[in-house]
Amino acid sequence: MTVTVCPSTSDFFAEVGDADLSQPLSRSDLSAIEEAFWKYAVLVFPDQHLEHAQHLAFASNFGPLETKLDVYREGNRARTPPEIEDLSNLDLDNKIKQADNRIRLMRRANRLWHTDSTFKYIPAKVSMLYAREIAPVGGQTEYADMRMAYDALSDKMKMRLNGLVAEHSYRASRARVGFSDFSSEEDASLPPVPQVIVRTIPESGRKSLYIASHIDRVLGMPRDEGNNLIDELFVHATQRQFVHTHRWRKNDLVMWDDRCTMHRGLAYDDERWRRDIQRATVADVGNSCDKATSMINKE
Ligand code: OGA
Ligand code: MN
Repeated sequence: MTVTVCPSTSDFFAEVGDADLSQPLSRSDLSAIEEAFWKYAVLVFPDQHLEHAQHLAFASNFGPLETKLDVYREGNRARTPPEIEDLSNLDLDNKIKQADNRIRLMRRANRLWHTDSTFKYIPAKVSMLYAREIAPVGGQTEYADMRMAYDALSDKMKMRLNGLVAEHSYRASRARVGFSDFSSEEDASLPPVPQVIVRTIPESGRKSLYIASHIDRVLGMPRDEGNNLIDELFVHATQRQFVHTHRWRKNDLVMWDDRCTMHRGLAYDDERWRRDIQRATVADVGNSCDKATSMINKE
């Protein structure tokens, strides 16, 4: 039996059934998943039972995996292997993190609209987030369709954005949640990087906004003017008609295309409820300013 794709919205969000991601996928199942993924951009696979190695094996079907940032390394006793980001609120002893835990404070930026790893020269292409434990209330994840948001821009705005590049940095999104306590080594390991503001997704040919709370400034523009432009784009791109809210079920795996979506975690009482979600992330093929990656001149 091949996988079953069940759309939740007409062309952004779909559930996938009859798929057991703990096992190697047949070529035809993988093709069916890919086809759905390029169309919808966010897929939910309910009721998956994955060890770390199985989570990584599924993710590896889509390209080379990212490894976790040095700022999130907690010595040799990490809860997850280097290729799996631990997005939980749990510490090395599997207890809820203290309120002043440094990683907890840095992760606060996940509550801002963003897409993953745009602060890396080679950003993320696909994120696969797996829920091992969920909060009973709160802690949903929201997704916004940046292709639909791009399509709905005025022609004047589309022309204005053509060819614009923004500088993204890890520091910029942490500053927005009041965190700036980085060592000089950490700062040096996370230099600002350029990313285009509009990109074309090769598999669908669709244009997409490419913005995130990691943006520090728009290159070649006075700061105020650039900030106003980015603020305006965020207000536009996160309007309700572009957004889908995912209420997690335990054992959901959600996979999204980082090149054409934004997401944010909604608040929950993370000093009370355990929430154990973990992410494998596939790296993009290059920097988005590279024409081969983004096909910005394709028209
Ligand atoms: C992520 C992320 C948000 C959440 O996994 O990249 O931003 O809901 N997660 O925890
Ligand atoms: Mn994220």
